[in-house]
Amino acid sequence: MVLLGSGWTYSCSNRQEKNRSELLRTGDRLFHQNACITCHSLDGKEVYGPPLDGLYMKEVEVVRQGETLTLTADRSYLKRAIADPRYEEVKGYESKDMPEVHISDEDIDLLVEYLMIISDSSETQAPLP
Ligand code: HEC
Repeated sequence: MVLLGSGWTYSCSNRQEKNRSELLRTGDRLFHQNACITCHSLDGKEVYGPPLDGLYMKEVEVVRQGETLTLTADRSYLKRAIADPRYEEVKGYESKDMPEVHISDEDIDLLVEYLMIISDSSETQAPLP
């Protein structure tokens, strides 16, 4: 029983590893194809918009209809920031605009997942194979 149990866990985490590198690849492609990279760095550097590495679950200050709010950059925040950039603006960036992106809902979800895993740990900073 014990062996069976650990075998299952092993193959399960193996599969996650595979999905993760696929997601890194796809996310990276979408991030470039949709010009996100022209405004957002993933290494903390200021380009035009805020850098996006380490954003997931960070506290962010946003301005929504003139009101400043402190939010946690969870999955739904990230999705909204990409799908509906006019809804609220990151504090300090009110004078800059993020254009509406015309990509499928599915691709937005992939970008959200991508931003989540690159925020996850430093190991993902390693270049893609
Ligand atoms: C023309 C420049 C530009 C492009 C292209 C662009 N953005 Fe943005 N983005 C911004 C600016 C400026 C902000 C901050 C103001 C705001 O919130 O609208 C922002 C905000 C964000 C935020 C919220 C960041 C935070 O700190 O809370 C996310 C997430 C984001 N963008 C993701 C994307 C993704 C993914 C793409 C590609 C599909 C993209 N952006 C394309 C300029 C851009």
